[in-house]
Amino acid sequence: MLNDWSGQTFPRPTGRKPIVGDVGTIRPGSPLQSVMENCGDLGPIFELKVFDQKFVFVSSAELAAELSDEKRFEKALSPALLALRDFAGSGLFTAYNDETDWELAHTLLMPAFTKAAMQRYHPIMLEVARELFGAWDGVDRPVDVSADMTRLTLETISRSAFSTDFGSFSREEPHPFIPAMIEALRFGQRKGSLATMPGAAMLMRRIEKRNAHHQAYVDDLLDGIIAERRAEPTGTGEPDRDLLGIMLNTPHPETGARLNDLNIRHQILTFLVAGHETTSGALSFALYYLSRHPEALAAAQAEVDEILGSDRTAEPTFEQVPKFRYVRRVLDEGLRLWPTAPAYTRTPREELTLSTGHTMRPGDWAIIVLPMTHRDPAVWGETADEFDPDRFTVGRSRGRTPQTYKPFGTGERACIGRQFALHEAVLVLAMLLHRHDIAGDPDYVLRIAERLTLMPQGFELTLTPRG
Ligand code: HEM
Repeated sequence: MLNDWSGQTFPRPTGRKPIVGDVGTIRPGSPLQSVMENCGDLGPIFELKVFDQKFVFVSSAELAAELSDEKRFEKALSPALLALRDFAGSGLFTAYNDETDWELAHTLLMPAFTKAAMQRYHPIMLEVARELFGAWDGVDRPVDVSADMTRLTLETISRSAFSTDFGSFSREEPHPFIPAMIEALRFGQRKGSLATMPGAAMLMRRIEKRNAHHQAYVDDLLDGIIAERRAEPTGTGEPDRDLLGIMLNTPHPETGARLNDLNIRHQILTFLVAGHETTSGALSFALYYLSRHPEALAAAQAEVDEILGSDRTAEPTFEQVPKFRYVRRVLDEGLRLWPTAPAYTRTPREELTLSTGHTMRPGDWAIIVLPMTHRDPAVWGETADEFDPDRFTVGRSRGRTPQTYKPFGTGERACIGRQFALHEAVLVLAMLLHRHDIAGDPDYVLRIAERLTLMPQGFELTLTPRG
């Protein structure tokens, strides 16, 4: 058994079957929501067995905080992340902790997320937001929120990080790179879920063959972007203007090492993937909750009106973005209820005993299920399932252990793009609410699509320009 925890067992749902294990409790297409529904009463730590693979999950905020202690624990690669390595190699997200590529890329890319760097991305974020609002002008039917937010965030990350324009708002059909990337990713996920199934090797080879052309298209396009940039004559433009420039031109400050082209391709893919659906989902959930909570919508609109004034086309300055405190709380609360990167995995640095009494050795791993830990009544009270942005006021946050709210992960492997995501999301949400009144379909029931990330599905908004 993989991830056997030296034979220790944990509470599990009823109905385990020989060979397949607990597969019956997992709905295809929505494993996370199945875990939330079927395992909510199993206590702070529980297990599911899928064929030969044991998954250990943590659902209590207290135990999650314990495993987030960076001195005693570190990131582990879950089977889902391992499967992604075919696609994203040792890119930042999927690298092992001790891989030299991780340290190198982390050191080189941290400066791309400083305040000064964020100031460079601000005009790009505004430009893409302007394109989105332009595309909405004159549209007289409800808009598909997740689809449009995804176009926006993909365009923002690709222009900011690689100076590449996918024309998301000018083309009728998405750039062919986008469906190819999604297909290649989907393949990675399928491979992850098949990995422990007996006899999966043949099936895997067949899917692999079917995916090959998507993967080849993605690889060629990215290698082309890298080659084009390499061919730029030196002394033109600003070589370090974006992440690609930094990766191509900057050596490690101490060792002088540089990233090779394959690793740069993996990093580009990593940033494109990690940097768009997560933020798009965060914006979409925020809009969903605002459409259901008129008092929160009114408070958010009062704030944006106060800061941006009466000109509906006003755009926030870089310095104004952190002033939208209520808008930020709406996003924070949306990410509490539906953290769009919903889990991360931890393993101990040395053998230890958990507060639950279980022994955990290096190599044993547990998945922190954020939508469960973020709704633990011990931290968030009896109304934990309800949307209440004011949980994040300074007063109400006082005394709350920071380790109990972790939508951006934890420790040295936490999200490098956190500031980028929050700046972009606050800016777009503030502009949108300043320009438009929003109304959701009262009959819509929140459905959540699970890919690598979480996203409201089929959620539409009617937008009315504000007078
Ligand atoms: C609301 C938006 C976002 C959320 C909720 C989010 C969440 C996360 C989480 C939970 C992790 C840790 C995963 C783990 O421990 O296995 C992570 C890592 C990462 N994120 Fe984000 N992320 C967001 C936006 C972004 C953006 C905009 C970028 C790029 C500009 C980005 C790039 C990355 C990268 C490269 C890593 C890997 C870092 C490392 O291990 O060194 N993310 N993110």
